[in-house]
Amino acid sequence: MGDLKVLISEEEVDKRVREIAEEISEEYKNKNLTFICILKGSIFFTVELAKRIPNNINFEFIRVSSYHGENSTGIIEMKVDLQGDIKDHDVIVIEDIVDTGRTLSYLKQYLQSKGPKSLKICALLDKKERRLCEMEADYVGFDIPDKFVVGYGLDVDEKYRNLPYIGYFENV
Ligand code: IMP
Ligand code: MG
Repeated sequence: MGDLKVLISEEEVDKRVREIAEEISEEYKNKNLTFICILKGSIFFTVELAKRIPNNINFEFIRVSSYHGENSTGIIEMKVDLQGDIKDHDVIVIEDIVDTGRTLSYLKQYLQSKGPKSLKICALLDKKERRLCEMEADYVGFDIPDKFVVGYGLDVDEKYRNLPYIGYFENV
């Protein structure tokens, strides 16, 4: 797989996470929030972000997996669904990365049907070049080039999630 290189250092990620936390705290002031963490990739980002926001935060979890068929229509399967009600909640979906945009456009539609008061998307990373359907996150940590990245929750075959930085393999 080649050498593991640092794309975004631990310090840079921490700094950006604090900035986003400030933005969210400012925008939602004293409102109660519901964070929907998209498992498993977003667990690190969700925790680090939430620790820096003073609002009451209710946590929900969703797990989806996407299959990319021959005609490249991504079919999304819900593996773990919401446990609680999000009707009239101020919801922020926390995602590790927006790639083709399929996962989030599916989830946005699905979650909107549950009647939240508001619904925003917060993604740590954004690979805009790879987009196949329209999807704009409301908060983005970093725009990154079209590289396969690992760390800070992101994996390759369930490995490297617990790296404290965002890395990539030179020959992948
Ligand atoms: P999308 O539906 O194509 O936007 O895919 C988003 C999902 O693909 C993310 O939640 C990740 O699980 C996975 N993914 C996309 N790019 C990467 C990457 O560079 N590293 C690790 N996982 C990725
Ligand atoms: Mg994922």
